[in-house]
Amino acid sequence: MIIKVDIKERSYDVVTSRGLLEKIGELANLQRKVLIVTDSGVPQEYARTVASSCKEAFTLTIPQGEKSKNFENYKLLLETMLKKEFTRTDAVVAVGGGVVGDLSGFAAATYMRGVDFYNVPTTVLSQVDSSVGGKTAIDFGSYKNTVGAFYQPKKVIVDLDTLKTLPQRHFSNGLAESVKMAMTFDEELFELIEKGDVRENIEKIITRSIELKKDVVEKDEKEAGLRKVLNFGHTLGHAIESCFENGEIYHGECVAVGMYALCEGEVRQRLARVLNKLSLPLTVPFDKERALENAFHDKKFDGAVITVIRVDKIGSYVIEKHTKEDIADMIDSL
Ligand SMILES: NC(=O)c1ccc[n+]([C@@H]2O[C@H](COP(=O)([O-])OP(=O)(O)OC[C@H]3O[C@@H](n4cnc5c(N)ncnc54)[C@H](O)[C@@H]3O)[C@@H](O)[C@H]2O)c1
Repeated sequence: MIIKVDIKERSYDVVTSRGLLEKIGELANLQRKVLIVTDSGVPQEYARTVASSCKEAFTLTIPQGEKSKNFENYKLLLETMLKKEFTRTDAVVAVGGGVVGDLSGFAAATYMRGVDFYNVPTTVLSQVDSSVGGKTAIDFGSYKNTVGAFYQPKKVIVDLDTLKTLPQRHFSNGLAESVKMAMTFDEELFELIEKGDVRENIEKIITRSIELKKDVVEKDEKEAGLRKVLNFGHTLGHAIESCFENGEIYHGECVAVGMYALCEGEVRQRLARVLNKLSLPLTVPFDKERALENAFHDKKFDGAVITVIRVDKIGSYVIEKHTKEDIADMIDSL
């Protein structure tokens, strides 16, 4: 399936199917110098398959994990391109999850003011969320995604076969983002996850999630308005996540807790059933005071209040401003 993200001269296709890695030479212009970036947890054959389609490939494998989204690796990517005499007409390909995608996208955005970037996301999270929309970044000064750029890829190539090797916990982790999009925009997608067999329906779930994200990105490329809705569950989620410096609790798991905190009644019950089905938590043990401080350090901080998204009816959302006291009550209710 081809999903076109239509943002004027920065438009691109997201191609989703099985067996796409073998065909990447037909989907991307790799007849040039190509920097392939992957990490130590991604099966190495994926990058090797991409490399075999390139005219001249250089593969960098960074250590797996969020800590790799750092300034040193960013510098390493730039240094490698410079040393191998990459010009503005060469390209970068990310083969991995959101860590590899965000880091390589940012290097591609800034090397010689921008070289072509192809994203080959291999986790559910990166397929349904981080590869679409052009947000690239590294973590800096102990905060996530503090240095980055909006830089749209030339193409996103989603090979569903790569999910066969993804550990179950990461599989569920990414589905938290699909649940988020279903909760805010699409009750039908929610029902698909709620009622059907998730593995059997994974192709439908992923393509529908991408379509929903694409719709939002087309309307609000640089997060001036609507794109903020994608933060449902994230304001609290990020605050909780930052209590776990070593990534013991995954991003999607924190988002699950953040979403659960922001709905009530029947909606909350249905969400709880779905989260249980996906082995995602409704709460996790965390330092409530620290989370509250973190929530108000977040970039969505706006004077004395922060903006949060609440869901009262599945498939729709309400945008609200909350004070520190309100957020403290929400955190306490967990
Ligand atoms: N740019 C955006 O819009 C955006 C949106 C959401 C999240 N993010 C970022 O995404 C990152 C998280 O992404 P993630 O959840 O993909 O984590 P990740 O990139 O760390 O990948 C998770 C783990 O899975 C392994 N892996 C990847 N593909 C695999 C495969 N096919 N088989 C086996 N193992 C595989 C990796 O080695 C890693 O250990 C965070 O840094 C977050 O800030 C960015």
